[in-house]
Amino acid sequence: GKHQLLSVDQFTRESVEELFRIADQMQPIARRQKVSRVLEGAVLGNLFFEASTRTRVSFGAAFCRLGGSVCDTTGFTFSSMAKGESIYDTSRVMSGYVDALVIRHPERGSVAEFADATNIPVINGGDGAGEHPSQALLDLYTILTEFSRLGKLLDGAHIAMVGDLKYGRTVHSLIKLLALYRDLKFTLVAPKGLEMPDYILEQAGKRGHVIEQTSSLEQGLVGADVVYATRVQKERFADEQLEGYTADFQVNKAIVDRCGRSDAIIMHPLPRDSREGAHDLGVDLNHDPRLAIFRQADNGIPVRMAIFAVLLGVEGLVQHSLRDVTW
Ligand code: CP
Repeated sequence: GKHQLLSVDQFTRESVEELFRIADQMQPIARRQKVSRVLEGAVLGNLFFEASTRTRVSFGAAFCRLGGSVCDTTGFTFSSMAKGESIYDTSRVMSGYVDALVIRHPERGSVAEFADATNIPVINGGDGAGEHPSQALLDLYTILTEFSRLGKLLDGAHIAMVGDLKYGRTVHSLIKLLALYRDLKFTLVAPKGLEMPDYILEQAGKRGHVIEQTSSLEQGLVGADVVYATRVQKERFADEQLEGYTADFQVNKAIVDRCGRSDAIIMHPLPRDSREGAHDLGVDLNHDPRLAIFRQADNGIPVRMAIFAVLLGVEGLVQHSLRDVTW
């Protein structure tokens, strides 16, 4: 089949764990102890029609650190789609210029449309309120890495997801990916109107996991091994819908100390909203060892290197391509 990363639905537990073994091999490069030129001569097209720091830069840096180069277009204004060009034409043209595409676009399903028009690998860097599969992969990689350090197993674990679960595409991908494991308990903490969509819940629920929904953050945190906070996706809905979203939904030091486990890991896909009146994740947790958000963001590099290696068919060459750094 075509080499694409459009949805986490394409994974099995075995194929995810194989990808993570490749990500582990990438760690010396990600930590800047080794270099590789395994993608020398290859060019990546980064097409971002929505704001991004992590996804755009970490995919780009991952490609460069494997020896490739990146061409970047950011925003509709800098692409000829501003002049009315279609997704089909854009994708056909780009496939003559570059060897792989990472695309972020505000419409759900749009990245699949780009992928249908080309034979080069296409990676979904976030399609509206749809999916963000590479984020879910690095989130799962982070959970497994942190659990290994804590001597915990993912099977049987309790995962709390907090915040805007309706429009947050990272949690849509993550709950489906986690559902590949066994006997999980999910506590979904969302204000009224921002609950996880039924079509996602059905898919995760079919595998026999326990799914509880609540609007009480306290209840959600009790016993949770992972607390996954999210930002309100204000760009996707009208302000009136925000009424139920108050400071009661903020994951902060006081509530985590009162209700959370001492060995919980606290995650967030980032960006967290630092503006006045935003309530996603308190900065008072910055020095708490349970806060895994920057380790999580760092894991974007080895996981995205592994995604490129698999999609471009060089995963078998990585181990032997490692050289010492000279800088
Ligand atoms: N987590 C994430 O997708 O971040 P960016 O929007 O900065 O890419």
